[in-house]
Amino acid sequence: MKVAMTDLSAEYALLEPELLPAVRTALASGQYVQGPTVQAFEREVAQYLGVRHAIGVASGTDALMLALKAAGVTTGDEVITTPFSFIATASAIAMTGATPVFVDIDPLTFNLDPANVEAAITARTRAVLPVHLYGQAADLEPLLAACARHGLRLIEDCAQAMGADYKGRKVGSWGHAGCLSFYPSKTLGAFGDGGMVVTDDDALATRVRMLANHGSATRYRHEMLGCNSRLDALQAAVLRVKLLHLDEFNRRRRDHARRYREVLAGMQLQLPVETGFGTHVYHQFTIASDERERIRAALAQQGIASAVHYPIPLHRQPLWQDAYAGVHLPRAEEAAQRVLSLPMSPLLKPEQIEAVGRAVAAVLGARECAHARSM
Ligand SMILES: Cc1ncc(COP(=O)(O)O)c(C=O)c1O
Repeated sequence: MKVAMTDLSAEYALLEPELLPAVRTALASGQYVQGPTVQAFEREVAQYLGVRHAIGVASGTDALMLALKAAGVTTGDEVITTPFSFIATASAIAMTGATPVFVDIDPLTFNLDPANVEAAITARTRAVLPVHLYGQAADLEPLLAACARHGLRLIEDCAQAMGADYKGRKVGSWGHAGCLSFYPSKTLGAFGDGGMVVTDDDALATRVRMLANHGSATRYRHEMLGCNSRLDALQAAVLRVKLLHLDEFNRRRRDHARRYREVLAGMQLQLPVETGFGTHVYHQFTIASDERERIRAALAQQGIASAVHYPIPLHRQPLWQDAYAGVHLPRAEEAAQRVLSLPMSPLLKPEQIEAVGRAVAAVLGARECAHARSM
């Protein structure tokens, strides 16, 4: 039984009757960049998250970079973040001219450990940028408290966690700004690239909108150095339809996670740990094991996909090899050796989860037998 990491064609097939009319309307409108469809989607996301402003941009990476710039982060500043994320979290910081300062993670959730943040604050620190990794909120309250004590901005990287909440409020609504990615495989995915900055801060929202539109609020009048980073009407049309299904799809992800726990119960591996202070939406179902490579090989042999998020912590990426040569973050370094994401998508089938379970058991079960024999 072949099992892919996600099945975007199946999702499309399911939603096609709703998507095609929406796309046709957007195409017929003649307005393909910004315009009423994008504005409607921005209003709907703002309402869904409970924030005042939502600004559509070209990608999650741009959302991070523009939010940081709009928050005043610039050359010479430092931004504290996690070393265990996709590169965009830290490259967005570097693109503003600021320096990413990596602090180690919580070994159970793989999210930034708030206990490590205060010691990393210097006179140059401007912001803290936690990532809600794999679809679970980072522990925001202690981070917000540290930011309040030191006059820092908190920017949330929600690229993997659209729809997740923390203590009853959606992620993205806690910090000065939240940054979303609509990359196709995300919990709210477009049919191409897209992203969004959400915020309650009127001035920050205005700056993001201007920065993303050539530094301009009025046509051909440019007040700051900006770029072109806008959401297409076609993507907004698709995303409006998919937003209506987001909660149901995230519920399905949680159901699949429950089933994974059943089929993997009792095996020598670390299952995803739910913190209990929010709803994990399982963008990824990521286990950890010292036998990762053997598990990967066994899955591949059965035609089952798996992925490592992420094999190289950010402070060990070749582009920063020299800059962080003296920095040791043992938990992130160990996680990079042990984590393994299993197939996960709303339309995953129970028999596919069972096939994954059997393939993992074939590796870990065999090891237990060998161990028993040697006793
Ligand atoms: C944690 C994280 N941050 C940022 C991004 C960047 O988003 P995008 O691909 O839309 O630029 C991604 C994913 O791609 C991500 O997983």
